[in-house]
Amino acid sequence: MSEKNKDINLAKCPRSLDEVDLFAPGAQEYWYESYNFLHEESPVHRIPGEGTSKDTDGFILTKYDDIALVVSNILRFPPPVIEKGGNDDVVSGIDGFPSEKTNELVSTRPFDRDPELMNAMQTSIMSLRPNEELWKAHKRQLTDPWVGPGAHRHTEMITNATNGLIDKWIDKGSVEFISEFTRPLPQIVLANVLGFPIEDIPKHKKWGDAMVMPFVYGQGHRNLLTAEQAEEQKQLLAEFSEYVRDQVADKRENPKEDMITFLTDVVYEPFDRKLTDIEIIGVAYAMTIGGLETTQYALSEQTQILANNHSLYKELQDDREKIRAFIEEALRVRAPTQGLSTRMTTQDETFQGVKMPKGSILHLRYGAANIDADVFECPHEIDMNRKALGRHLTFSQGHRTCPGNGISRLEQLIAWNCLMDRIDKIEYTPETEIKHQPGIMLGTLELKLNFKVN
Ligand code: HEM
Repeated sequence: MSEKNKDINLAKCPRSLDEVDLFAPGAQEYWYESYNFLHEESPVHRIPGEGTSKDTDGFILTKYDDIALVVSNILRFPPPVIEKGGNDDVVSGIDGFPSEKTNELVSTRPFDRDPELMNAMQTSIMSLRPNEELWKAHKRQLTDPWVGPGAHRHTEMITNATNGLIDKWIDKGSVEFISEFTRPLPQIVLANVLGFPIEDIPKHKKWGDAMVMPFVYGQGHRNLLTAEQAEEQKQLLAEFSEYVRDQVADKRENPKEDMITFLTDVVYEPFDRKLTDIEIIGVAYAMTIGGLETTQYALSEQTQILANNHSLYKELQDDREKIRAFIEEALRVRAPTQGLSTRMTTQDETFQGVKMPKGSILHLRYGAANIDADVFECPHEIDMNRKALGRHLTFSQGHRTCPGNGISRLEQLIAWNCLMDRIDKIEYTPETEIKHQPGIMLGTLELKLNFKVN
């Protein structure tokens, strides 16, 4: 990643609204400063020409109430639907954007470019859950038992994985925390949940990186890739697809206690039939794109909050009941998914006095909404006594709320309990330099720490 990050940090801290561009290279180091200007002067911020067609616009929403309204109303604000060349061949989805070429930039949707993936994602996303009712059934029946409320079944596995990682560096007194802890933990957890061999994790990482490529290296709020990047991504995702297909075949022959085996066997109630291979690949794709990096970023940001605040670390260590509240507050003030352009307008709308015509794409800036002073008193402060903890928008809200929030919260809880069992204090080393990756995720690149064991 380092080569591709070479032009990171070009943007400067904005001194006025005119200097705010959340998607400029390096802007990620100043997102929170930018949110102040957006909240004060442009809470609905127009991005000209970046809507669902060339003559419509994108709009960055930063106010809590606006985003909460949008995500709670899927019919009025559905995922973006982009017309291909003006005919009725349309696409939509969580990462669904223009399939037509715009200059040298192409769609973020790998399944637009790869028939195998297109089938997998279309059947999984569009056929298995094309409307609100089926979306709920999909979540309740297929994902909740594994990564939602049923995630507690993984408590022992996550605890062992966490302690196994800590064992590797606990005697050294210092650690590069991302490569040695926050990145591998969700990788091990997801491989175990899905039932993929642990030794294949480097491959999962490569494919996971390919899936999130638009969200890291994509341009603008629509996360557009260059033709070259898109081709690279396509090839990697074809490998992923083939890999999952082989895994599915193996699970059908040799069933195990894992999510993929479950998916090969479950009768999907709304359709009263079992899932096809291609549908299972689609679910595995969604789990991998959603589940690998987000929890890494959450843990990395929490670590920075605690490395800066030793008394808070001690308070949590002494009273573990407070860890849940800390996690919610950290998720609020440092949302891993800072923003997604996953909704559009289906009629003319006016938010905060700004007109957003039909066909606009809405960039929902969850990270900014979470620090909206109209909703959260002293919004930047970690306040574990705050009323309605968990009211943040980090996992979105409404019926499309992140289906993996259960397992992610559990991983974070177990991680901090295990770390606090064994470590008394964490602090930065003299060489620690905090830099974030580009894109729309709050991803710290490296985190060197010294620590004191109990
Ligand atoms: C801190 C960790 C995480 C954060 C911040 C996060 C955040 C989000 C957000 C903001 C959305 C968009 C919802 C919307 O459009 O309204 C989403 C969707 C999704 N997340 Fe997560 N997520 C996290 C962890 C996970 C995990 C661990 C998994 C899977 C194991 C997962 C799977 C998904 C999937 C499949 C979707 C797509 C749902 C859809 O298609 O609408 N996420 N997540």
